[in-house]
Formats: sequence, C-alpha cells, structure tokens
Amino acid sequence: MDLKKLIMAAKKVSKNSYSPYSKFKVGASLITKDGIIYQGCNIENASYGLANCAERTCLFTAYSAGVKKNDIMAFCIYSPKEHLISPCGACRQVMSELLDKNCKVYLVYGKKDNIYETTVADLLPLTFSSEDL
Ligand code: THU
Repeated sequence: MDLKKLIMAAKKVSKNSYSPYSKFKVGASLITKDGIIYQGCNIENASYGLANCAERTCLFTAYSAGVKKNDIMAFCIYSPKEHLISPCGACRQVMSELLDKNCKVYLVYGKKDNIYETTVADLLPLTFSSEDL
C-alpha cells in the first residue's frame, strides 16, 4: 500500500475545502485493494449544521462510484493544522458502517506530515450497528 500516495491525495483535496465559515480545511482519502484512490473535502453552508466533513464526502464519493467496505484498504484524514485532529462523532459512526473495523486510519497533520495510526474499531468502541437492530 502506497501510504505516501494516500497522504498526498488527502493533502491535495484539502485545498478544495469549501470552508468560508470555519476556515478549517480538511481532506480525506481512501485507497482500495486495487490501488484506486478516492478523495473528499469538507463542504460548509451558511446554514452551519449542513456542513459535510471531509471523511463523509470521501466515503460517500467512493460508495457512489461502487466501492464496497471490503474493497477498502486504508483511510486517511489530513489537516494542515500543527496539532492532531481526529474525526467527529458523526463521522466515526459513518466510518464504522462503511469501513471494516480493522481498516487502518491515518491521521496526518502539520507541515511535516506527522502521522498517527489507528483503526476504525479504536476510534469507535462499543459501536451501534445494523446487528443491534
Ligand atoms: N471537519 C472535518 O471535515 N473533519 C473533521 O475531522 C473535523 C471537522 C470540518 C467540519 C467543518 O467544516 C470544519 O471542519 C470545522 O468544524
């Protein structure tokens, strides 16, 4: 798996962030087992609550293109801030359904591309899922 390529994709798409209200740019990327990369950035709205985080934009873009949970090898979230950022609660819930629980998640931040490696299961323990319905 080409981690550098995955990070570059998240970094690049963060530049497309539509965030005139928060001015907080985020990019997300995922790579499939076939090596195909999908990207997404955060997209805000004057009605603030309608903002879509980068993580969900990326996952919805991939799924819309026909990608399935088991096709996905790794997920990456990038913020240019110099501190670690990790996904919000809503995104963790969506990630827990659309990614395998053992899928690697790379949180990348800052000028030096600092990397914090985690997994979907670690980000959301005791998950509520379709099996609970
Ligand atoms: N945001 C993301 O896109 N991903 C995160 O992991 C944290 C927050 C976005 C939502 C909103 O557009 C801005 O960052 C500030 O919360």
